[in-house]
Amino acid sequence: MDKFVIKGGKALHGSVAISGAKNSALPVMAAALLTTEKVSVHNIPKVRDLITMSKLLAFMGAKVSIAELPASDYEIEATTVSDAVAPYELVKTMRASILTLGPLMARVGVARVSLPGGCAIGARPVDLHLTALEKMGAEIITSHGYIEARVPNNGRLKGAHIVFEKITVTGTENILMAATLAKGETILENCAREPEVTDLVAMLRKMGAQIEGDGTATLRIRGVEKLYGTDHTVIPDRIEAGTFLVAGAITNGDLTVTNCAPEHLGAVIAKMQETGVRFDEIDKTTLRVRGAKKLVSSDMTTEEYPGFATDMQAQYMALATQAEGTSVITETIFENRFLHASEMVRMGANISIDGRRAVVRGPAQLSGTTVQASDLRASAGLVLAGLVASGETIIDRVYHIDRGYEGIVEKLRGVGANIERVHGTGS
Ligand code: EPU
Repeated sequence: MDKFVIKGGKALHGSVAISGAKNSALPVMAAALLTTEKVSVHNIPKVRDLITMSKLLAFMGAKVSIAELPASDYEIEATTVSDAVAPYELVKTMRASILTLGPLMARVGVARVSLPGGCAIGARPVDLHLTALEKMGAEIITSHGYIEARVPNNGRLKGAHIVFEKITVTGTENILMAATLAKGETILENCAREPEVTDLVAMLRKMGAQIEGDGTATLRIRGVEKLYGTDHTVIPDRIEAGTFLVAGAITNGDLTVTNCAPEHLGAVIAKMQETGVRFDEIDKTTLRVRGAKKLVSSDMTTEEYPGFATDMQAQYMALATQAEGTSVITETIFENRFLHASEMVRMGANISIDGRRAVVRGPAQLSGTTVQASDLRASAGLVLAGLVASGETIIDRVYHIDRGYEGIVEKLRGVGANIERVHGTGS
């Protein structure tokens, strides 16, 4: 297995370009199943999850081609869906495979999708996706680890009034896609308002879907008979951008982050400003971040958008280890998302965990050692800790980070970090 080796202590300087959003590209690609026509998608990040999604769509019978250059351009043509199945082998490596369930039910009225299990950060059930589809007329059983769903009498899903019990990002996306081809009107309440949901709405609308309420908690979808091919560019990855903002700040550097969407980073910028980090919005797609001589602590609670994203919690924790005072970090979205904390403690951080609260006392002089990445964002938090630690930090199991960060080693090296990937074999 590959590892990263980081020699910390270098301030980052220069400019880094942000890739397309993984969590936008995933539903956008799944949405291509809704039409027989060709869908062209641009700005797809070169990360493993998107390769997995293209394999999944190809398994179902879609033609997926990736341009030579730029390799971020995909063409997907699901003229027929020959196999409405998401097999365990693919779902086990990427839970977001569940995003094919809604489109399959809408397009072919039948689907067999492996039940995603829990993962390192929590149990992550999909009950809300299933009850919503049932309200739209689907019959669903789970058996032998698979969700077996069908619309009776080879019919169409029908519009329904659904109030999500809890805000769910992929749940909102799945049911939104299902509703585009359903008979009649669907009203979805308590929807996720993440920019990735809004990006999906924008794409679906270009395909001919009738949707109102983007960016709000209530989406109204009037089902249509047919959707068409389109051309779509996914939004910039706000979590990758946020990770580089912390990289610039934690190393007391001066970074310009380009190709990003500052309007999606409001909560992260506001929180980091409270710790003393300085920002300049150069233009609509460019942010400059500069560290502070002294960072100060600030409490943070993760929330659904527009609040502070859970996907930035580990990175913020790395920053908090360098801030003077006590920062209380409360994780409200996932029940087990502090696995990075114990690894940071092994590097010298002063962090104690009490249920969903982590108390970080800083500043701590971190020292490099070997640490284990446990999930995608935890890995990013450990890379950031490694950038300020003395000596050498070795991060094991970086296959987690390869799921969602395009060329992170090359991008960090480009702004002066001393980081390299060491290829390993076996486990
Ligand atoms: N939940 C339920 N039942 C459901 C669905 C969700 O109880 O049917 C609970 C979850 O267990 C969790 C909460 O609701 O406690 C929110 O989960 P949500 O469904 O919003 O998460 P998700 O859609 O599975 C997406 C992102 C995650 C991100 C979360 C929260 C994608 C592909 N994934 O997951 O991204 O952390 O929203 O913002 O969009 C990542 O990129 O590293 C990542 C984990």
